[in-house]
Amino acid sequence: MSNIKFDLEIKFGTKYGKEEEEAVLRVLRNNAPTSGDACIEFEKNYAAYCGTTHARVVSNGSNALFLSMIAIGIKPGDHVITTPITWIATAAAPATLGAKVDFADVDLDTYNIDPKQIEEKITSETKAVIPVHLYGQPCEMDEIMALSHKHHFAVVEDAAHAIGAEYKGRKVGGFGATGCFSFHEQKNISTLGEGGMITTNDANIFETTSLYRSQCTRVHGKSTKYCKLDEEKFPIGKKFWWQDFDDCGYNFRMTDIQAAVGIEQLKKVDALNQQRIKNADYLSWGLKDIPGLKLPTVRPYNKHVFHLYPVMVDPKEFGMTKEDLIYDMLHKFGIKLGFHYIPLHYSTAFKKRGFKKGQFPNAEKIGERLVTLPINPRQSEEALAYLVKSFKDVRS
Ligand SMILES: Cc1ncc(COP(=O)(O)O)c(C=O)c1O
Repeated sequence: MSNIKFDLEIKFGTKYGKEEEEAVLRVLRNNAPTSGDACIEFEKNYAAYCGTTHARVVSNGSNALFLSMIAIGIKPGDHVITTPITWIATAAAPATLGAKVDFADVDLDTYNIDPKQIEEKITSETKAVIPVHLYGQPCEMDEIMALSHKHHFAVVEDAAHAIGAEYKGRKVGGFGATGCFSFHEQKNISTLGEGGMITTNDANIFETTSLYRSQCTRVHGKSTKYCKLDEEKFPIGKKFWWQDFDDCGYNFRMTDIQAAVGIEQLKKVDALNQQRIKNADYLSWGLKDIPGLKLPTVRPYNKHVFHLYPVMVDPKEFGMTKEDLIYDMLHKFGIKLGFHYIPLHYSTAFKKRGFKKGQFPNAEKIGERLVTLPINPRQSEEALAYLVKSFKDVRS
């Protein structure tokens, strides 16, 4: 019972082992530097894993999105479209740069942004679209990329939930201008509670994200445009460098101790995701005959990595509202269900920006009916069976 309680209380997240412990100690004994060799190795391995030419590690997923907006050149007044069903970081990235955020409604089977709804929102001022591979299932990338080519906007993939997820056999993070990942404690892999990564196939975008990540510091040496001047000042053979700042930037670096853990987590990601998929299969099998529950739909060409396991509750058929279900599951069985997400246009932040209830009916239905079940790679079959049984018993 104690294991069950732990599995269900700490609802999400990853699993660490001896390898991560040893990695922490190795870096600690080496004075635990800020961004160093471990970060570089983590980036190299990450790009290889995602099949992109570059990866840049950052302090969290929010900063990955923010730096991506800077790198694609988002300016005050530009229009950026995203989904209202996401964590606020997705929309905050363009909004905090002064861009105008608009939402496009979602598909009620996958809960991902609907390309047809995107198309209706595109104007000549649209500079970017941020699709979120929600709960671990890839968005309709062929349709979104076709719109991007037709209307000349950048696509920034929010892949915070979706490391290892595949669309038609290709990993997410390599379709758009950038892919943005989060290693927050609740994600499929973590780097000690916080962390993020930007993937890209574009050398210029990579350079800009790298610069702004680290105060736009540029160290000039022999191979730079300042080289000639240096050589005039100093005879060849003497080492000389100077530092300049291209612009005012940020410190969004990750530490080496986190990256060392990330390297070990990345080696395990496929096995961790496989365990999630197995747990999701168990839940789908266990819950399938309960009336009034809509279980996850996985498109046949997608690999869904089940960062979350979403269930829509029809209050009439199931006999309970979402709120009553959340309350009773906690108080009768000690199980914490989640609600991902309250539509962003209900928030004060976006009401202030002119949004109103009634604008995105599918997102609103999710807000009213969707719960997320505990899912993580630590769950025992006993914990999953208890979860299924509690769902069956909760109405009695
Ligand atoms: C969809 C989505 N995007 C972005 C983020 C931001 O990631 P972080 O918490 O690492 O800043 C999150 C985090 O929960 C998220 O769920």
